[in-house]
Amino acid sequence: MKALVLESVKKLSIRDVPISETVGPYDVKIQIKACGICGSDIHYYLEGAIGDFVVKEPMILGHEAAGIIIEKGERVTHLGLGDLVCMEPGIPGVFSPEVLEGNYNIDPDVVFWATPPVHGCLRETVVHPARFCFKLPAGMSAVEGAMMEPLAIGIEAAKKARINPGDTALVIGAGTIGTMCTISALAGGCSRVFISDVKAEKLGIAASYQNVVAINTAQENLEDRIIQETAGRGVDVLIEASGSPKVYPGFFRCARRGGRAVLVGMMNGTVPIDVALLQGRGISIETIFRYTNAFDRAAALVSAGKIDIKRLISKTFPFKDAIGAYEYAAAGHSEVVKVMIEL
Ligand SMILES: NC(=O)c1ccc[n+]([C@@H]2O[C@H](COP(=O)([O-])OP(=O)(O)OC[C@H]3O[C@@H](n4cnc5c(N)ncnc54)[C@H](O)[C@@H]3O)[C@@H](O)[C@H]2O)c1
Ligand SMILES: [Zn+2]
Repeated sequence: MKALVLESVKKLSIRDVPISETVGPYDVKIQIKACGICGSDIHYYLEGAIGDFVVKEPMILGHEAAGIIIEKGERVTHLGLGDLVCMEPGIPGVFSPEVLEGNYNIDPDVVFWATPPVHGCLRETVVHPARFCFKLPAGMSAVEGAMMEPLAIGIEAAKKARINPGDTALVIGAGTIGTMCTISALAGGCSRVFISDVKAEKLGIAASYQNVVAINTAQENLEDRIIQETAGRGVDVLIEASGSPKVYPGFFRCARRGGRAVLVGMMNGTVPIDVALLQGRGISIETIFRYTNAFDRAAALVSAGKIDIKRLISKTFPFKDAIGAYEYAAAGHSEVVKVMIEL
């Protein structure tokens, strides 16, 4: 089948890849209709590695996708042929302790699309466990469906933040992930979400959502502004989504006493944390790694009109121009949130 293959660093090709696919009793076969380009795809494309994950042989990219079910296993009852679904890209083992405890995202043996050596899904068809496929609500397109993967990260952050109705939140970093966290925090019940970035041009799209307040921290002090905006208290919820070590430990001062912080942004290396500050203010810290049980919630919120996801689809390329799409995404235009490829 045709696929977009990362042959080596900065070298992509669209070519036939021999892949044999068997549909097991609990699987479905999906014809891919849309696939987004993620920050991780760009890292593999430009650098050939993310941390310990190194691309050693040609690998198909892509893990944010939606498509149509064209075949199903005999034990699949909740999905039918012709259904348009989005797919959760990471498949855990069945019997790992993490799975049995309900934390399937941290199963060390999880098999995740486009994480070497596992091929991604920017190809004609994939076979996937039906339980990791989610029927899209009526009216949702494949391109919107492919947005459920990055949105699921925002939903996970909102879940971990234990948002109470009316909470205020501060999201650090207005990249794709920070923006997903912002719209998820609003959909999860926040009355106002502050979002900060060091680049003014990154803040425009997030700030176009109602009840979002943009703070350009190249120009003003974050803590001062948050304290002023929250009548001296600080926000209920902090979400770190920049991955910048420079944010630490200062941003914890933006949380109110008893507030919650969720660490989403990843980095290499370590950062200082002011333990006494956290203890004295009773601030609890949560982390997230991808998501659990979030895709159907993400799709339901979009379908209910609680989240406008279309605004974040910046440009869509046909599959024949997939290499151009990667070049465009890798150029890092600041106004671009998500680049999509349609098949
Ligand atoms: N935990 C998870 O499961 C998970 C999943 C996906 C991505 N991530 C991580 O989330 C982070 C964000 O991903 P992304 O794709 O949105 O990246 P991105 O590079 O598009 O966005 C990061 C944003 O942070 C801004 N920034 C940098 N330094 C800053 C600072 N000091 N203060 C405020 N803003 C600052 C940048 O200008 C940029 O707009 C990355 O670290 C990524 O690895 C985590
Ligand atoms: Zn992704």
